[in-house]
Amino acid sequence: MKIWTKVVAAAALAVVSVSGLTALYYGMYLPRTAPPRAGSVPTTPERIERGKYIFTSVAYCDGCHSERDFTRFAGPVVAGGRGKGLVFEEEGLPGTLAIPNITSDRETGIGAWTDGEKIRAIRDGIGRDGRALFPMMPYIYYKNMSDYDVECLVAYLNTLAPVRNRLPRTAMPFPVNYLVRSVPQPVKNVKAPEPGRTAEYGEYLANLAHCVECHTPADKGQIDESMKFAGGRKFQFPGVSVVSANITPDPETGIGRWTQDYFVQRFTLQRSMVMNGAPQVTPDKFTLMPWLGFAQMNDDDLVAIYRYLQTQSTITNKVARQAGFTQKASF
Ligand code: HEC
Ligand code: HEC
Repeated sequence: MKIWTKVVAAAALAVVSVSGLTALYYGMYLPRTAPPRAGSVPTTPERIERGKYIFTSVAYCDGCHSERDFTRFAGPVVAGGRGKGLVFEEEGLPGTLAIPNITSDRETGIGAWTDGEKIRAIRDGIGRDGRALFPMMPYIYYKNMSDYDVECLVAYLNTLAPVRNRLPRTAMPFPVNYLVRSVPQPVKNVKAPEPGRTAEYGEYLANLAHCVECHTPADKGQIDESMKFAGGRKFQFPGVSVVSANITPDPETGIGRWTQDYFVQRFTLQRSMVMNGAPQVTPDKFTLMPWLGFAQMNDDDLVAIYRYLQTQSTITNKVARQAGFTQKASF
């Protein structure tokens, strides 16, 4: 029954997409774009530091845009691999997906882009040439990144050493290439809540980290809104796979019994791996959880995220997971 509903829905979608008017609409009026803002972002040591914190920790841009060594726990970034991009392979992807080189290389990276174009790509999901970026780039979350934070991020991006790495262009078959055009949404004048150990600021950070995206089951890239944070999303790569955990406040199947201190420790324990290098692991210990990025978050930010997660609906969802490698924190 369920499978058939899906098949019918998919067929209906295909019919709608090919019907002349819809195709015309997607082709002519989408994506929605706004011109990139003019001028350069302010550059100070504090702003670059803030941008680095967002890139390497909270939003973990490294996770996708950098070359990582998955023979080691949680895939640390390899030397010289930051921002250089790669061709992404995951089972079920309909076409070629290139995660772009975002170093300052002028030919193969984004060194020739204006700061406004970089901000527009990150928050609005629009490429330099006006195309809609494939929404694996998490701009549906980054649209809530404050003006200050996105400016800091770009100030940091501009410091990334150029790495020459030419990649193919992302190419998705019809109707996916048309459907993605409806996703971008131009934004401006975005503010963040006052930083602090509050659920409100935690929501802001958790959104930049897009915890909900990985920790919610999804179908064809669409998360199931009724199962937010309940875990069970499976990530299948050639040769390895992993399933995300339930992080709702459910005491049995989620993290409802975790104290604030335990939660914070669960992240900060990996700080030693950031300092000294992550250990070699076998494929059964493969994880996508950005432990090495999030371990670098400061304690206040981790507390804020904990408080935000505590405000979420409790969902009972037992997730069968592999052993993992994370060091155990203690209550
Ligand atoms: C989950 C994976 C993922 C994460 C995390 C991610 N990106 Fe991306 N990013 C992509 C993909 C995929 C594309 C290209 C989509 C396409 O080609 O249509 C992209 C495109 C871009 C582009 C446009 C580059 C170009 O040449 O078109 C920029 C700039 C960018 N990302 C910056 C960032 C920054 C900064 C962060 C962190 C705040 C980030 N990305 C986090 C996957 C990711
Ligand atoms: C790129 C996908 C991804 C993102 C983003 C992500 N997670 Fe995870 N997370 C996972 C996966 C997969 C696991 C299970 C494997 C593991 O524990 O390493 C996991 C495990 C966890 C665990 C361990 C739970 C347990 O029972 O041991 C916690 C806590 C957690 N995530 C919290 C978060 C929070 C909070 C955020 C956002 C700040 C977040 N995750 C963002 C993929 C992700």
